[in-house]
Amino acid sequence: MRILLYTGKGGVGKTTVAAATGLALAARGLKTLVLSVDAAHSLADAFDLDGRLADKRHGVPVAVAGNLWIQEVDVTEEIGRHWSDISGYIATLLAVTGIEEVLAEELAIFPGMEEVSALLYVNRYAREEAYDVLILDCAPTGESLRFVSLPPTLDWYMKKLFRIERSILKVARPMAEKVTNLPIPSERYFDNVKALAGKLDGVDALLKDPKTTTVRLVTNAEKIVLRETQRAFMYFGLYGFTVDAVIVNRLLPDGLGDPFFEKWRRTQATFLAEAKRYFDPVPIWTVPLEDDQVVGAAGLAKLGASLYAGLDPAASFRRTPPYRFQKRAGAYVLTLDLPFVEKEDVELAVASGDLVVTLGNFRHHIPIPRTLAGSVPTKAKVEAGQLTIRFERSTAEANRG
Ligand SMILES: Nc1ncnc2c1ncn2[C@@H]1O[C@H](COP(=O)(O)OP(=O)(O)OP(=O)(O)O)[C@@H](O)[C@H]1O
Ligand SMILES: [Mg+2]
Repeated sequence: MRILLYTGKGGVGKTTVAAATGLALAARGLKTLVLSVDAAHSLADAFDLDGRLADKRHGVPVAVAGNLWIQEVDVTEEIGRHWSDISGYIATLLAVTGIEEVLAEELAIFPGMEEVSALLYVNRYAREEAYDVLILDCAPTGESLRFVSLPPTLDWYMKKLFRIERSILKVARPMAEKVTNLPIPSERYFDNVKALAGKLDGVDALLKDPKTTTVRLVTNAEKIVLRETQRAFMYFGLYGFTVDAVIVNRLLPDGLGDPFFEKWRRTQATFLAEAKRYFDPVPIWTVPLEDDQVVGAAGLAKLGASLYAGLDPAASFRRTPPYRFQKRAGAYVLTLDLPFVEKEDVELAVASGDLVVTLGNFRHHIPIPRTLAGSVPTKAKVEAGQLTIRFERSTAEANRG
C-alpha cells in the first residue's frame, strides 16, 4: 500500500488537494482511501456531502466515487473502541484529584490520541492491504509534526518506561494500595497499552520508507507561507520522512489585465521562482486559483487533472531518505538533509544509544546503529544544506580492542 501525506500551513488547500488526488488515483483504477487526520474535519465538505457522513459512524470508510472512499477519524468514538481502559484509568486518576467527572473525561482525551487513532488505522489498512493508496489529509503543519513524531515516542515509552513501571508496580502494588488513595493502574490497563503497542508495531518503519510513504507539502506563493513550508520540510526530514513534492496552490492566471491582481501575480511569480530554487531537486507542482471555491467531485476532478497532467500521483518522486549512515574513509558518517538549517539552530547530544538532534522546538532521537557501538560523534558540520556527523571509536574502546 502506498501512503501519501498532504500537509502545510492552515488554509493553503491541503484538503482540496488531498481530495483531488484521491479522485485522480481512483480514476486510474486504484482503490483509494482519503483519511482525515485533522480534528477539524472538512473532507466530507470538500466532497459536498452535506452531512451525509454525519449520520454514519465516522470510524468507517464511506464510498464517494468508484474506487474512492473517505473516512474522518472521530476521537470520542475511537476512545470507546481502543482506549476505554486507558482513558478510564486517567479519568479516575483525575477524578480523585477533585476534578469533576465530566471534565476528567474531557481531560482524559490527551493530546495525541487523535493522531494515535489515525496511526492505528494506517497500520491496520496497510496490514490488511485494504487499499492500493492511502491518502492522509493532515492538520496544519505543527500538529502533523506531532503526528509523525508519535511512533518513535510511543515506542520509546513502551520499551523503556512502560516496562519499568509495570515491574515496579508488581512489587509495590500491595504496599502502594495501602498507603495511597490514588488509583493504581490495573493489570488490564497494562494489557491494553501492550495490545495498543502491538497494533502500532511497524507503523514507524512504514512511514519512513520512501517507497511506501512520501510527504507532499502544500503551499502558496507568498513569503510567509513559503517560510513555514521550508521549516516543515526541515522538520519532516529530521523525523526521517521523505518529502517528494511541493505543491504551490492558488496561482493567479496570466492576462487578468487588472492592476490590482497584476501586483499579486508578480509577487506570486517571485515566490514561485524562489520555491523552485529552494526545494530543488524536489519537484514543484502548481495549481491555479480557480474562479470559485473548489467543492464537489466535478471541481476536484478538474483540479486533480490539471495538477497531475501526465504524472502518476502514486509514484514516489524522491527515494533518498533524509538521513543515512555511510562509511567514509574508515569512519561512519551520518548525513541529514536539512536544506534550510543554520549551524546555530542545531543542537546535538548522545543519550542512551541515540543521537539526539534538536532543531528549534523539535527533537528527534536517531538510533545509532549497532555497528557503531563504542563510537562517539567527533565532528559535526553544516554545509550546503546538509548536516554531517562523523563517528569515531572512542579512545576507551580503541584501547580495549
Ligand atoms: N486552487 C483553488 N482555487 C480556488 N479555491 C481553492 C483552491 N484551493 C482551495 N480552495 C478553496 O479554499 C478553501 C480552503 O481549502 P482547504 O479546506 O482545502 O484548505 P486546508 O489547507 O485543508 O485548510 P485547513 O488548514 O483548515 O485544513 C476551500 O473553500 C477550497 O475550496
Ligand atoms: Mg483541511
